[in-house]
Amino acid sequence: MSKLKLGVLISGRGSNLQALIDACSNVDFPAEISLVISNRPGAMGLERARRADIPADVIDHKSFDTRSAFDNAVSQRFESAGVDLICLAGFMLLLKSDFVEHWHNKLINIHPSLLPAFKGLDIHERVYEAGVKITGCTVHYVRAEVDDGPIIIQAAVPVTEDDTPETIGARVLEAEHNIYPEAVRLIANEQAQPQGKKVTLSASGVIPETLINPSLEK
Ligand code: GRF
Repeated sequence: MSKLKLGVLISGRGSNLQALIDACSNVDFPAEISLVISNRPGAMGLERARRADIPADVIDHKSFDTRSAFDNAVSQRFESAGVDLICLAGFMLLLKSDFVEHWHNKLINIHPSLLPAFKGLDIHERVYEAGVKITGCTVHYVRAEVDDGPIIIQAAVPVTEDDTPETIGARVLEAEHNIYPEAVRLIANEQAQPQGKKVTLSASGVIPETLINPSLEK
């Protein structure tokens, strides 16, 4: 069976890109990365792509007069690479609604909180300040509204007394690396159907015990 062709859009470190690269290196994984695009020339993720022999382009937003012109260049490049699904992985620019509509239900993002809580930036600092006991991460279809769109998969991550924004971020990032490839797998296997504001999953999986933090004595 032919694999789902992924385009990955990055701006920096690319650790989620790496998680996707690692997943795709498994012959049984139902997707492959056709092209990585970074809007920043120095992004570490570009190096990760090159190491894995994946085509990696820089499309620098600063060399375009308008953001729409940049969006169009990205769109055309992904289209010419035959991409079926675009994965935003630490892409730090906001895409215009034309782009989002063009790639409707073919554009997903990973966000380091349990959406719809903690949209935006500086999430782990805000999670820390708010004193929440459980945070997490979300993979969702992208809609025109920032950090909005049908949720495909989430992971819950406990916050402990000793945590700092940095340690929370590190624990959440580990969970991100688990769920991003999983979301792609569900989509590639046609087991995740966006319907209105929700995603219907038709995958069987083990549902873990309720996460309570601190965990209760048994
Ligand atoms: C991740 O925390 C992701 O959830 C957010 O930006 C960060 C990107 O990290 N959107 P990396 O570039 O994948 O390492």
